[in-house]
Amino acid sequence: MTLVPGVGCVGGVPTVEWRGGEVVMIDQRRLPLQETYLHCRTWQDVADAICSMAVRGAPALGVAAAMGMALAASSALMEHADDPAAFRGAVQAASEGLFATRPTAYNLPWALEEMEAIWRREDLSPAEITTEMERRAVQIYKDDLAFCRAIGENGADLIQGENPVVLTHCNAGALATAGYGTALGVIRSAFARNPRLRVIADETRPLLQGARLTVWELIKDGIPVELITDNMAGYFMSKALITHVVVGADRIAANGDVANKIGTYTVSVLAKEHSIPFLVAAPSSTVDRRLADGSVIPIEERDASEVTGYGDVCWAPPGVRVRNPAFDITPARNVTAIITERGVARPPFEESLRQLEARGRPRQI
Ligand code: MRU
Repeated sequence: MTLVPGVGCVGGVPTVEWRGGEVVMIDQRRLPLQETYLHCRTWQDVADAICSMAVRGAPALGVAAAMGMALAASSALMEHADDPAAFRGAVQAASEGLFATRPTAYNLPWALEEMEAIWRREDLSPAEITTEMERRAVQIYKDDLAFCRAIGENGADLIQGENPVVLTHCNAGALATAGYGTALGVIRSAFARNPRLRVIADETRPLLQGARLTVWELIKDGIPVELITDNMAGYFMSKALITHVVVGADRIAANGDVANKIGTYTVSVLAKEHSIPFLVAAPSSTVDRRLADGSVIPIEERDASEVTGYGDVCWAPPGVRVRNPAFDITPARNVTAIITERGVARPPFEESLRQLEARGRPRQI
């Protein structure tokens, strides 16, 4: 499969791409200074890329995991074409390895379950399973692109006013998805309707996804953006200089509690204090209906070195004790709306998310 620039890409750059025997992805650790690509030929390469955050962002993790499973099936087929039990054993090991990479984004286990529904089928041979898993991985990729477009259109309806100024946190853009983005998809679609829209991007400590990735994407697209440090959002809200907040999500519980990049909760409290709409944009595959509320969403704790410095630079005293939760939970009471490809959910979310699920896939997709 070859990506058409501007469709699955931001500024001609693919986030993650299936090329038969390999998965090619832009190395997000090096952005914006270098545009380099990783060529993953085994599921372990994909797992390493996820752990090291060469690929990141909930929907992109789902796509990468599905493609990693397609690689696992084709290598298992080479060794165990005539032994379905051994074939399934090898594929299951890959699924467990990919599951263990990062715990919070629901799209990753969701994609693994989609693939498991194929490799568990007793009516298919290893060769047929392999073909079907590759087909499904590419479909998950294509769906994600289409879903982001639909999220963009659904969300743009909510960005009202003559001169909207949208605050976003972390990167929920083309780089965090198959392309176009969720929160940045809303911003892209809203900007297409109203070119007076401007964006304020939180830098997003500790890994600076806002400063490095969101700003890079928006500049490439010619969307006006200003970068602030995370602790400046309250200042701009208190001066009435922000009209909307739009963020992505890593996992949404059945009651509408939202896990997203650390700092999102703080922004939601500030938005509530200033009566600013707080909008969450995510595909349905981010909604984990099995979890009643956000208190049971697993929160990843990452390495202390991400807090004590950046890259080769360390600014904290050696040996200092560090906490580094990568995500936090925004309670549903702070969320104005959840924008999905199926439509917009409003409080109470338990009911509205259930109704969107019952609605199924949008007709145009
Ligand atoms: O740790 P990351 O960079 O994978 O975290 C990403 C985020 O928290 C994003 O805001 C979220 O995944 C939404 S991506 C469309």
